[in-house]
Amino acid sequence: MNNTNISIIPAPKKMRLTKGFFALDSNSRIRNNRVLDTSANQFRKFLKEMTGIAVSRKSSSAGIGNIIKLELSSSDGDINRESYELKITPSAIFIKAPAAAGIFYGIQTLMQIIMSCPASAASCVNLPCLEIEDAPRFEWRGFMLDSSRHFQDIATIKKLIDALAFYKINRLHWHFIDGQSWRFKSEKYPGLADFISGISTEKGCYTVKQMRDVVQYAAERHIVVYPELEMPGHSRAALTIKPQLKCHGISDNAVVNEYCLGRAATAKFHKEIIREIATIFPAPYIHLGGDEASDANWKSCKYCKAAMIKNGLENTALLQKDFMKKMAEYVHSMDKISIAWADKLALGIPAGQIVQGWSDNDNGNESYNAAVKGFKTINSYHRGVYFDYPQNADEDKYQWMIDLPIEKVYAFDPVPAGLSPEQEKLVLGSEACLWTELVPQEKVFRKVFPRLLAFAEIVWSEKSKLNFEDFSKRSAIHCGIFTKSGYN
Ligand code: ACM
Ligand code: ZN
Repeated sequence: MNNTNISIIPAPKKMRLTKGFFALDSNSRIRNNRVLDTSANQFRKFLKEMTGIAVSRKSSSAGIGNIIKLELSSSDGDINRESYELKITPSAIFIKAPAAAGIFYGIQTLMQIIMSCPASAASCVNLPCLEIEDAPRFEWRGFMLDSSRHFQDIATIKKLIDALAFYKINRLHWHFIDGQSWRFKSEKYPGLADFISGISTEKGCYTVKQMRDVVQYAAERHIVVYPELEMPGHSRAALTIKPQLKCHGISDNAVVNEYCLGRAATAKFHKEIIREIATIFPAPYIHLGGDEASDANWKSCKYCKAAMIKNGLENTALLQKDFMKKMAEYVHSMDKISIAWADKLALGIPAGQIVQGWSDNDNGNESYNAAVKGFKTINSYHRGVYFDYPQNADEDKYQWMIDLPIEKVYAFDPVPAGLSPEQEKLVLGSEACLWTELVPQEKVFRKVFPRLLAFAEIVWSEKSKLNFEDFSKRSAIHCGIFTKSGYN
């Protein structure tokens, strides 16, 4: 095979080709510590499917040649749990890492090398000898999936998780509550996932069991799934089912997007939902939404006005801030970290909250402003990473969407310009966001590919490694592979 075909995305930190080939065949064996069995078995399944080669576990009595060795290295001091080393020699392949996550990423890299090497008629794949040392630039390499506007079934979500894992994405932010539907079949409030015509785009919800299944499936691929409970806006679906949480004087039939913040029942309801969701998602994070809430009803509602007077809040913006702060403190009281969209940053952010920037509110990039204020931030700036925006001219779009071809994603730097080195450290990374108003399930992968590859590279690879021309060559090979594997 031709070494120039090696196409690894995201580009590794260091790669050096050495002499010779490792011949992968049915006599090859995997040797691993039992704690790495999940990854080893995934790799075995991949090999069987991609190359037809069945490799088994190495018994300790067998010889030392023709092995793929997965090895945890000693992990003292300040280690990066996602780093790994991959070495291919003529007699063995070594993947070494301080933690299981790094082993998993080493395997993804090896899988990509195998995919770029055609199998020979003799059921053997010749892998070029090389040495790779790799580690991510950012700890937060996320993907946000909106399952409210359009529903995705569990099989589609798992297929998405497979793709995310293959590109070393490590967070799935699951947005399953919004104005159009509430898709969490809460055991405490099962009726919220009922559907009333005129609200939902289509039926569908996730049971507790299904959510746990997604969490487990993702965990086996080193992806943390964390939930978003959208509040106090984008809440039309919930308020259609629970009109008693609307502001005073609003009829049950009126379309309302915001909860009443003056009613004690609103906070009680949200605390119950937070408590329940925390039992389903072991992730250390809960996202509380917080974006795009209108204060129109709060201004005239007698409950909201009474709450403002009682708590000395001068305006509705402070009423919202006070409510969001209470919810954040509730999340923190469960030893979890709250995250919220950056809207209304200028009013103050609850201590310890992670700010997800997406826009230019408050006179500038929100993640920039959050970092300047000393808060950790995820930079999902819409002009860089909103995957609902069209990548091709023939796609449906709303008038406020810009075109977002792959070049623009590749050119996006999650670290906003102008931060000090200390402030830059507060930028945890980025999340690509797939809002689905215009994206039914069958279009999900058309939106995701090929931009996910560019996104994966900007959140993993060192800035000095980024080169769009080189990336384009590698991504063309990957796209061919993905089309063959049944992704659209
Ligand atoms: C958002 O796009 N409203 C977070
Ligand atoms: Zn109210």
